[in-house]
Amino acid sequence: MAAGFYFLISCSAFLCFFSGTSIAADFITRSKSISDGQSLVSQNGIFVLGFFSPGKSNRYVGIWYKNIPTQTVVWVANRDNPLTDSTGVLKIDDEGNIALVNKTNSLFWSSNSSKAVAKTESLILRLLGSGNLVLSDGKGGNPDQNFLWQSFDYPCDTLLPGMKMGWDLKTGLNRRLSAWKSEDDPSPGEITHGMELYADPEAVMWIRSRKRYRSGPWNGRGFSGASHSMKDNAMFTYHFTFNEEEVSFLYQPINGSILSRTVLEMSHDSGQFERLYWDDRQQKWEFYFKLPKEFCDEYGACGAYSNCDMNASPYCKCLKGFKPKSPAAWNSMIWSDGCTHQTSLDCGKGKGEGFLIVKSVKLPDAEHTWLNKSMNLEECKAECLRNCSCTAYANFDVTERGSGCVLWFGDLIDIKQFPSNGGGQELYIRVAASDLDASRTEKRLILVVAITVTLAVLLLGCCGFCIIWRKKKTKSKELGNIAESITDRSLLDESHMDNLELPSFDFVTIATATHNFSDKSKLGEGGFGPVYMGKFPDGQQIAVKRLSKTSLQGPEEFKNEVILISKLQHRNLVRLLGCCIHAEERMLIYEYMDNQSLDHFIFDQARSKLLNWKLRLRIILGIARGLLYLHQDSRLRIIHRDLKTSNILLDGKMEPKISDFGMARIFGGDQIEAETNRVVGTFGYMPPEYAIDGIFSVKSDVYSFGVIVLEIISGKRNRGFCHPEFQLNLLGHTWSLWNEGRAMELIDPSMRDSCCGDEVEVLRCIHVGLLCVQQNTEDRPTMASVVLMLSSECALAKPQQPGFFAQRYPVMTDSSSSKQESSIANDLSATVLEGR
Ligand SMILES: *[C@@H]1O[C@H](CO)[C@@H](O)[C@H](O)[C@H]1NC(C)=O
Ligand SMILES: *[C@@H]1O[C@H](CO)[C@@H](O)[C@H](O)[C@H]1NC(C)=O
Ligand SMILES: *[C@@H]1O[C@H](CO)[C@@H](O)[C@H](O)[C@H]1NC(C)=O
Ligand SMILES: *[C@@H]1O[C@H](CO)[C@@H](O)[C@H](O)[C@H]1NC(C)=O
Ligand SMILES: *[C@@H]1O[C@H](CO)[C@@H](O)[C@H](O)[C@H]1NC(C)=O
Repeated sequence: MAAGFYFLISCSAFLCFFSGTSIAADFITRSKSISDGQSLVSQNGIFVLGFFSPGKSNRYVGIWYKNIPTQTVVWVANRDNPLTDSTGVLKIDDEGNIALVNKTNSLFWSSNSSKAVAKTESLILRLLGSGNLVLSDGKGGNPDQNFLWQSFDYPCDTLLPGMKMGWDLKTGLNRRLSAWKSEDDPSPGEITHGMELYADPEAVMWIRSRKRYRSGPWNGRGFSGASHSMKDNAMFTYHFTFNEEEVSFLYQPINGSILSRTVLEMSHDSGQFERLYWDDRQQKWEFYFKLPKEFCDEYGACGAYSNCDMNASPYCKCLKGFKPKSPAAWNSMIWSDGCTHQTSLDCGKGKGEGFLIVKSVKLPDAEHTWLNKSMNLEECKAECLRNCSCTAYANFDVTERGSGCVLWFGDLIDIKQFPSNGGGQELYIRVAASDLDASRTEKRLILVVAITVTLAVLLLGCCGFCIIWRKKKTKSKELGNIAESITDRSLLDESHMDNLELPSFDFVTIATATHNFSDKSKLGEGGFGPVYMGKFPDGQQIAVKRLSKTSLQGPEEFKNEVILISKLQHRNLVRLLGCCIHAEERMLIYEYMDNQSLDHFIFDQARSKLLNWKLRLRIILGIARGLLYLHQDSRLRIIHRDLKTSNILLDGKMEPKISDFGMARIFGGDQIEAETNRVVGTFGYMPPEYAIDGIFSVKSDVYSFGVIVLEIISGKRNRGFCHPEFQLNLLGHTWSLWNEGRAMELIDPSMRDSCCGDEVEVLRCIHVGLLCVQQNTEDRPTMASVVLMLSSECALAKPQQPGFFAQRYPVMTDSSSSKQESSIANDLSATVLEGR
């Protein structure tokens, strides 16, 4: 009955198909082909197979969704061999293969199935409702099993529900995804994603021959590194097959009527593996996940033997029992060198070895692993100890009580920390017995310290009480001061016990060093006063900042601030050597920078030639790191508020150093993220919310940083930038170029030659710059993200319109020379509002 009905339907569809009307069949036979312009539609009406052009002219045969307005192609037959005209024909050929030919019968693609076919007459090529194109011998039965060839075995960039990714070990077939080369070129690009046949298999995304992202091995519940596969209330179910015949993975939506696809996309020269589902109400694709999602998903982001934790700052930490391999690099957040054993292993010869457990982690790169599916954890440990090159072990399967044994050999790379209930599994890491003890002692020590501190506090409290009791007359202010100095002291003590006092220079020394503050030794004038160059008798060169007499602080407060700020030390911050207080006079003494400030270079025709792209990129990164340190990693959390090219100094090796940080603190009266009555800053570098409303936050600095990035790349000032045609400043100009896809035209002509081949890098920097100067503060990234975006290949958000992109500032603050750039008061900012 059903069969007859089916026959009727297909037959009528077939007839209509012949007559060329819009209703199409879902199959062809040997005697019929489809030519360009015709198509097959799956019976459920979801998928279409036909000819299409992603770009201008080239024609491809592919499968897409019938009812989704923007053509979403899920499979392409002739990926790297397009037809150049519309004479293509798809047919079943004499050998029983599917063939794509043009008018003169040149072959453009063939299914080339190896299975021998007796009678080609009975062959049927059908587009199934799952999006699978299947060639079968027409004998009936389930076409999902009884087929000669199926498109699901030859994925392009898309994994559809029910489609397997991975290996058929009997035939050697490896089903893996490869991203399109570009939006209009479906040929396989350099980004691929597939199952790797390691002892403990896992899915890996590759860029050329470099790993970009790993899923982590399957542990029975999910991939240990893909927390979405372990969600309880997930939208999808996952099936992993791992036996002698097959290593493969597939997914299915729980609600079968929801359309979904998983795509390997190329974005900004790197890969992105993403699952989308169709939102019927909003008529658009929604993301279910995007991988790599965050910094810690980047392969080996923290180097060997370290743990990457998105909730920690900084993200990378050496595993317990390990220390940074290159401490200096590690501290400036260059993590690629990774960590190394605190005590090197001697493989049982000395005190022996043991294992430290880390919980809820993505298991390390499984390329060099060994597996036994039936061992328990005790046997596993013994097995690992038996072999000197075994570095870690874990359960193979974590369902129920855990079973199986995986051993790692060689460096442990790419471990990611998940929140305690958010995925991952337990990993046992081999360390020397002494480090095991150390970790135990550490715990004991913490306990001891905790008890001591509690006692001390009690004692102190008691003493304090006694003091108050005895000296009722003592002003409470004094007590406050004691408390204050204790906290400040402890802050200082942590690093340099011996260096409690910042050198105070006497006035005569400084006056002599600067030839009595002569005009000749004047280097420039910043927002906080003039800067002089000086030389001590021993030959050391210094820069002296003579603060304008508006400081609200008394000498002691000033000194305290300076001491705190002098503790901020980073290779990208100018080092404060000391201060000088003389009557009303306040001075700061800095190390002298040979190459003066960045604006001397980038805005100068001759000197800008000295800055090639690599150097500019290094400068950008240096500034970013310095600023990140101020915002996040220093204990004071400093917002600079007057970041500009003239405040970036360059040392003899052209390493950038931020100067003038902490000035807001020295001038007193500022909290974090607050409004201020006194708008300090420089037009052109100030974000709208600050210039107009006086609201500042770390995001104000991010804005200034973005301006600096664009200035470094373009060699032009944001202020004073003049476009012949438009009333745009540099930001506006960049924004319009960006939207027209002509961002490369922004590049400073004097480095155009040196950035050949680095276009992607340059574009990425422009992109990051634009993200930083976005109008909306919340849209702007933090400096932590900026550093990551600049030093990794993670995907970037689309920038929104920048703040202040039209050249409509009041004329009177025009300052093309840094000497005139000075603090401006709030009343001016009202003028800024005009014309916006
Ligand atoms: C068919 O393709 C071949 C090879 O690309 C080409 O030489 C020939 O001109 C094409 N024929 C037509 C009619 O386009
Ligand atoms: C078809 O497959 C065979 C081996 O399976 C290979 O040698 C041959 O080059 C393939 N032909 C085409 C047109 O891909
Ligand atoms: C499945 O999804 C469809 C479309 O979104 C919805 O109408 C239906 O209620 C869902 N079914 C279940 C069981 O959730
Ligand atoms: C796995 O371990 C079990 C139990 O220790 C042992 O009997 C079996 O031979 C091992 N298999 C392999 C392949 O080593
Ligand atoms: C240790 O394991 C490695 C990797 O499986 C193997 O090559 C080596 O022979 C083993 N050594 C010993 C002593 O078992």
